Amino acid sequence: MSFGAVNEMKGIVLAGGNGTRLYPMTVAMSKQLIPVYDKPMIYYPISALMLAGIREILVITTPRDAAAFRALLGDGSQWGISLDYAVQPAPEGLPQAFLIAEPWLAGARAALVLGDNMFYGHGLTELLRRAALLPAGETIFCYEVSDPERYGVATLAPNGHVTDVVEKPMDPRSSWAVTGLYFVDERACDIVRTLKKSKRGEYEIVDLHRAYMRMGALRAERLGRGFAWFDMGTPEALLEAAQFVQAIERRQGQKVACLEEIAYRLNLIDARAVAHLTKGLNASYGRYLAKLIGGVNQIRHSA
Ligand code: DAU
Repeated sequence: MSFGAVNEMKGIVLAGGNGTRLYPMTVAMSKQLIPVYDKPMIYYPISALMLAGIREILVITTPRDAAAFRALLGDGSQWGISLDYAVQPAPEGLPQAFLIAEPWLAGARAALVLGDNMFYGHGLTELLRRAALLPAGETIFCYEVSDPERYGVATLAPNGHVTDVVEKPMDPRSSWAVTGLYFVDERACDIVRTLKKSKRGEYEIVDLHRAYMRMGALRAERLGRGFAWFDMGTPEALLEAAQFVQAIERRQGQKVACLEEIAYRLNLIDARAVAHLTKGLNASYGRYLAKLIGGVNQIRHSA
């Protein structure tokens, strides 16, 4: 798993919102800082961007929580990446992330991930890397669910093209949920500027998808059976995600979304840097990292 950086694409993690569905856990703390088994929620979406080959990431938070995210994640250099921060004054819709990020993007293509989304599965890295290399259009990532009415829902043509996409339809036409990960080309900001607020007073991500669809430039990657996707926005989903991570980690002895490990396996940091990071860590996390660099060559070559 030794890839160069996808220089042209930058990443955005949207970690704002009111967190009302997780009240009262979110009264004094941002949802995306809540632990999911053994690490804060935001580690999971950051791991997806890192695996996609993205090295420059903008974290968008509420004004209230900005300092806590900085304290947790720093400038990213500990993981061989670059992290910057911006705030969203009020949660006026997911597409706003592109406008907030626009000066920082400076014309680059972007991968937006929602701060409460977790992706896991064999072959995820390759799938994300392939999609990140596509020069034009928008790629969405779709996942079959038993309750599509809770999500954006896409109707997919066999060639990967999207023929319809609807936000939380009462009568879904397919079981393909649109996950909270969107790869867009440099036209996204201009498109978002043309969007109007919906009846609920927000800019809607589905309108961005539709704009790309009308241009014949919206494609979908299907995340098949071998993948797990969680939107951790409700107490039930949060618990399910935590139990999933626990099951994988206990059964396989391998961590999910351990950013130090990902950075090391992607050659973004070396064994010495990992050793430095183990200092002061709790016993099990520290032991895990120590073991990782203990078998340096063996592990790296099997990655
Ligand atoms: O998780 C996938 C789903 O995410 C998609 O299937 C839907 O198409 C998409 O609209 C979104 O649905 P949600 O119901 O989860 O959207 P929500 O408004 O809850 O926002 C998702 C996350 O983004 C949540 O963690 C809060 C954060 N957020 C939301 C808005 C509207 C922001 O940071 N800023 C915002 O302005």
